[in-house]
Amino acid sequence: MYKILAKTLFIGKNLVFLPSCHSTNDIAQELLSEGTIEGTVIITENQTNGRGQRGNGWESEPGKNLTFSLILKPTFLSVNQQFELNRVVSLGICDFLKTYKTGFQVKWPNDIYYHDRKICGILIQNSIKKGHIDSSIVGIGLNINQQDFNEEKPISLSQIIGEAISLPEALENLAQHIETRYLTLRAGNRELLRKDYLHHLYRFGEEYLYKANNEVFNGRITDVSPEGRLEVQSNSGIQHFDFKEVEFII
Ligand code: BTN
Repeated sequence: MYKILAKTLFIGKNLVFLPSCHSTNDIAQELLSEGTIEGTVIITENQTNGRGQRGNGWESEPGKNLTFSLILKPTFLSVNQQFELNRVVSLGICDFLKTYKTGFQVKWPNDIYYHDRKICGILIQNSIKKGHIDSSIVGIGLNINQQDFNEEKPISLSQIIGEAISLPEALENLAQHIETRYLTLRAGNRELLRKDYLHHLYRFGEEYLYKANNEVFNGRITDVSPEGRLEVQSNSGIQHFDFKEVEFII
């Protein structure tokens, strides 16, 4: 059902389809250690032990959504530029989703939201050599056709547009959008990516409640630093937060 991707230059030219597996990120790690090529995609219909951010799991109804990992080798990025990769992947996913409808945003650092509901989670694992990224495993869980979720917050693309979507077609188009953004980064056009990222950023420039150091405060997101730290302006001035140091309060 999934075929080698035709619309891309290098992503998905090596496509590994597994009817079932524990975690595509773990399989990607195994393939990397065997020296697999950049652009390799590992996709499964039934991920039994999907991994998410902060040590959480990732649940996805079998056969309904996209659960895959993409292997990249952005050796042009230094250790402190790792967030550039999160930026291009998030933007590529938004570009793809925008071909269906408007209203998709990047929730810093690794989620894609449709209004206040999560449609996609990203788990990027980099391996570093001599101060640079040697390889990256980009794990993507994108809700496409699932109709019922255990929690209230998630949403799928099909719930948003009211029709079912072909998973192989979605993968092909999504890969194309991610590749375009990745090639922009590789060509060195980082300013454009930074601008576009802020343009897509959830809650950018608006006043909301945040929690850090056990304190809830009113703040406004003003930027995301090249290292990926969230810049929030509040009464006490501008503060920078790493992932896990700040919580969005709804
Ligand atoms: C998150 O929001 O917590 C990130 C979720 C990432 C899930 C994807 S599904 C494909 C890939 N394999 C995994 O085990 N996790 C990622």
